Amino acid sequence: MERLKIIGGKTLSGSLDIQGAKNSVLPILAASILVDGESRIQNCPDLKDVAAAIKILRHLGCTVTRTDKDVYIDSSTLSKSDIPDNLMREMRSSVIFLGAILGRTGEATLSMPGGCELGPRPIDLHLAALRTLGADIEETGGEIACQGKRLRGCKIHLENPSVGATENAMLAAVCARGETVISNAAREPEIEDLQNFLVSAGCRVRGAGSPIVVIEGTKARRAVVHEIIPDRIVAATYLSAVAAAGGKVRLKKVIPAHLKTVTDRLEETGCRLQIGRNEIVMTSNKPLKSMSPVITRPYPDFPTDAQPPLLASVLCAMGTTVFIENIFENRYRYVDELRRMGADVTIEGRVAMVSGVKRLQGAVMSATDLRGGAALVVAALGAEGESTITEIEHIERGYDAIADTLRSIGADIWRLEDEG
Ligand code: UD1
Repeated sequence: MERLKIIGGKTLSGSLDIQGAKNSVLPILAASILVDGESRIQNCPDLKDVAAAIKILRHLGCTVTRTDKDVYIDSSTLSKSDIPDNLMREMRSSVIFLGAILGRTGEATLSMPGGCELGPRPIDLHLAALRTLGADIEETGGEIACQGKRLRGCKIHLENPSVGATENAMLAAVCARGETVISNAAREPEIEDLQNFLVSAGCRVRGAGSPIVVIEGTKARRAVVHEIIPDRIVAATYLSAVAAAGGKVRLKKVIPAHLKTVTDRLEETGCRLQIGRNEIVMTSNKPLKSMSPVITRPYPDFPTDAQPPLLASVLCAMGTTVFIENIFENRYRYVDELRRMGADVTIEGRVAMVSGVKRLQGAVMSATDLRGGAALVVAALGAEGESTITEIEHIERGYDAIADTLRSIGADIWRLEDEG
């Protein structure tokens, strides 16, 4: 059983390069099946979710090779249009392949993604968007079967700005005849990264980053080289770790504008931030102060994925900080684990109230989900004594070599594996 062992209380110092964004690379790997010729994806993080996406591409018949940070996909050999249940279960976000497979082959079959650690994860908006483009979709016995040989450009209004539904609609619309206009589209930076990939491949897409994305269908989609943007949630996690543990760290290869809502909050705690063009230097001298309420909403508001690590950074801050979670129902499951360290957090529905305690004591904890697991790491780095975190496969879905990375800036953290 793999686990992380952390001895807390070490101040952090040094500099870190931030990995490529998981939430960009997954839809871009899906988009690679629309390209005629090779896609070369640079700055690709080494993650369980990326490995799962590569398995799907290989199952579909694509030729995929990986070097240290680059993934090469040749989709000219694609021969299938289904994703088997075992691959769907490895990664919930496999649903992002739906629009691309449908666009490329005129059909797609996959199993329903089902719920996840964060609660129900409906895909009604994805399916409604594809139906508006002209797909016939049957949902039977947990399977989704789509047919759509002649997708047509159309107007798609998303009831809420779902990231995945926006991406699926964009990927299918690229293959439709005529113009598609998506309104109330998600505005996350990862949508813009997907647009940039598609434009480099010769597609006509504009507006990403705003609520209106316009796609004109094209046939010719040429080979492409694309570099993935830095992962804003990983950057937010490492900033939270520095806040909790104390010290001074330079994050390199970041886009500070993507992190503004997070860095604004950290400044309120008394941390000092120097923001450069592609870097952030943060100094944290404990004790920290509490923050004004942190309310998660779609981008450009505060990201739900940064809520757990930021919450963990103020467990020992003076005063009370309120968090309001508006995106996912079960996003506070990790809080029970934090209580084992002595954290004082009260949950009522969507609201978490964190009352700062004098100190946290290391404990044995179990990661409940990806970002909740990262929160346990952040808290353990600021605690006294030794912590053990189990179920770290959740954390490894989204963080490339988290122990090595944090050790390089002075943390006492080790990834251990039981023998036998
Ligand atoms: C993406 C991110 C995830 C992040 C989330 C919100 C990826 C791979 N994952 O997930 O890390 O936490 O955005 O920023 O990019 N919803 C519906 N019907 C749908 C789709 C979504 O009701 O068809 C609801 C969801 O239940 C949720 C909200 O919309 O409450 C936002 O979900 P969405 O933006 O779709 O998240 P994901 O794309 O799944």
